[in-house]
Amino acid sequence: MPHLIIDTDAGIDDAHALMMALKHPNADIAAITTVNGNVEVEQVTRNVAKILDACGVDAPIYQGASAPLVAPHFFAKHVHGDDGLGDANLPESPRTAEDEHAVNALLRMVDDAPGEYTLVALGPLTNIALAARLDPTFPSKLNDFIFMGGTIAAHGNVSFVAEFNIFVDPEATHIVLDSFPMATMLSWETTMQHSIDWNWVIAWLAADTPLGRFNAAISQQIINFGKSVGGESAGFAMPDPLAMAVALEPDIVLEAQTQYMSVELNGTHTRGQTLVDWVDRYKQPHNIRLITQVNLDRFRELLLQTVQ
Ligand code: BDR
Ligand code: CA
Repeated sequence: MPHLIIDTDAGIDDAHALMMALKHPNADIAAITTVNGNVEVEQVTRNVAKILDACGVDAPIYQGASAPLVAPHFFAKHVHGDDGLGDANLPESPRTAEDEHAVNALLRMVDDAPGEYTLVALGPLTNIALAARLDPTFPSKLNDFIFMGGTIAAHGNVSFVAEFNIFVDPEATHIVLDSFPMATMLSWETTMQHSIDWNWVIAWLAADTPLGRFNAAISQQIINFGKSVGGESAGFAMPDPLAMAVALEPDIVLEAQTQYMSVELNGTHTRGQTLVDWVDRYKQPHNIRLITQVNLDRFRELLLQTVQ
């Protein structure tokens, strides 16, 4: 399994994804980089430290961008709580971030070991865009780049058409789509199509283990939000864990296709929408691998593993 670098704006579902990676028997987490997104980057860093404590695993944390490249701040505290981890009153961690900035750490790590790392991005793409602009060879020095974000059929979760991670920093997304020859994307629509039945989620949250109790404490806020938005029938959407499952076990992907993608930077209603050229109208080289189907049985097994 490749070495992973995880870029995150943790975030409750980021926490689920991190737990999945930290508890996976074959995963090697080389570093965790933090970015502004669901909450302020300083709080994201504190959250990652708490998640590492809960999992009892060591990994260096590098703090990254504190704001989008151009856009004003836009947080998701109504989804994740004021502290980003469900306002569960968790004890502060003694862990702190390394001195090096996340973007410098990303560049250094891939320079030292070209082709070694798979980068998984679970938040806005600000750090990744900065790395790609500072060193245009950065994308080619990664084994793979997988991100959760964007829409493929204009079904947004922030505006009508835009997904949160892309809506927060459309300019960063533009740079990433422009500079990566190929990236793997887990969209919001694919997330919705792999929602988890609430009864299963309730049983998962009831696991009577230290990590099970941690999971229950941080998750209540996002469960309440999910039910209030989607109702009982839609199930629990788990965007970041799905992207992480793809990184951890590439064979979990049952269906994927490459396409050319761009992102809208203007538009009264459409800023931050990712656009797929389904019929190759622009004759551009394909730059995106869209995941469209994942093995849900295996995904549930990976979720169960996180709370054992
Ligand atoms: C994405 O938005 C964030 O709130 C979640 O952590 C996830 O990365 C889903 O749109
Ligand atoms: Ca996230």
